[in-house]
Amino acid sequence: MARERRPWAAAAAAAVLLVVSCVAAAPLQQHKHDRISGNNAAGGVLDDDPVGKLKVFVYEMPRKYNHNLLAKDSRCLSHMFAAEIFMHQFLLSSAVRTLDPEEADWFYTPVYTTCDLTPQGFPLPFRAPRIMRSAIKYVAATWPFWNRTEGADHFFLTPHDFGACFHYQEERAMERGILPLLRRATLVQTFGQRNHVCLQDGSITIPPYANPHKMQAHLINPGTPRSIFVYFRGLFYDMGNDPEGGYYARGARASVWENFKDNPLFDISTEHPSTYYEDMQRAIFCLCPLGWAPWSPRLVEAVVFGCIPVIIADDIVLPFSDAIPWDDISVFVAEKDVPRLDSILTSIPLDDIIRRQRLLATDSVKQALLFHQPTRPGDAFHQILNGLARKLPHGKGVFLQPGEKVLDWNAGLENDLKPW
Ligand SMILES: *[C@@H]1O[C@H](CO)[C@@H](O)[C@H](O)[C@H]1NC(C)=O
Repeated sequence: MARERRPWAAAAAAAVLLVVSCVAAAPLQQHKHDRISGNNAAGGVLDDDPVGKLKVFVYEMPRKYNHNLLAKDSRCLSHMFAAEIFMHQFLLSSAVRTLDPEEADWFYTPVYTTCDLTPQGFPLPFRAPRIMRSAIKYVAATWPFWNRTEGADHFFLTPHDFGACFHYQEERAMERGILPLLRRATLVQTFGQRNHVCLQDGSITIPPYANPHKMQAHLINPGTPRSIFVYFRGLFYDMGNDPEGGYYARGARASVWENFKDNPLFDISTEHPSTYYEDMQRAIFCLCPLGWAPWSPRLVEAVVFGCIPVIIADDIVLPFSDAIPWDDISVFVAEKDVPRLDSILTSIPLDDIIRRQRLLATDSVKQALLFHQPTRPGDAFHQILNGLARKLPHGKGVFLQPGEKVLDWNAGLENDLKPW
């Protein structure tokens, strides 16, 4: 069935070239003046400057919670959870930092739970609950601020696959739920899916870390024709963990492969070429299907390289979704509609594609997804601060009565309660 040649393939290929020449012909300045607005009421907030809108107190923690973990294995500086470390470094020298906790709006605990790597370099989250619990205990015993709110004016970076559920398999993550001690805190996490136990109200969904320098080094001439219609590199099946298929990516990736492996419009494969980043810049659509978790660094890469993300992950909550007009720059395809992916994408009108490409070319959207070293105005660090600032002032329910307790220090799995 997938082998059948589609009659419109040639027409679509012609459209591809047309799209490219239209965009290339538009004057560069014009891109800058395209307004980012769209469906979200918050249009324009990407350029907000958080300085003056919030004050953050950074707890000084014993080195075992952060520096020592990093010293043990610096590979956690380059993996997709590295925002946890860079956010700490950013805040230490940020203008929103205050050294006076009495005037702080937010309290931040620098603890690197995703930097506790296995000897092979895997960021398995099994000790994370104990590290986190130990850090909170330390904070609660050392300063008076935790007990005032039991964490409701505290934020934590929990960038692992399923955030503070601290497991990489969805089923197990859901069984575990969010670590009980973090249930009043604001969690800054990569994981985002509506109506999911691992995303609590008030969380801030952030992009995964993708190295900006590395991407920069692979930029090609922006006038290069986008001669690939659909591009994807990655797994379709996870043989090691799901030999039968069907669980991994809830079957969506297997369906992409089975339906389109022989379709000439689809440049898809498991091979990871050295020209991966260049290829994305030669493609119109980049598939961003869920894997074990709904998110992946492809989303950031697609935006940076101006390839329209095709998001296949039902109910995904995208990074900074209250600030980035995702509906205007990407295409959403329901997991059940993957078999129709070809007709869905080829029926998108040309001017619609061009409009999305123009918005994608806007600098503010790209910057918002990047954790720059050193930081730049409007980058992901600033968007996190803007997100925290938009949550102010704290509601009355945040501050507890003297002696009032809401959280249970002894709740959770027996293993998680062991000291670290
Ligand atoms: C906060 O409350 C915990 C018990 O819930 C207590 O052990 C701790 O000493 C309190 N912290 C401070 C600074 O009083």
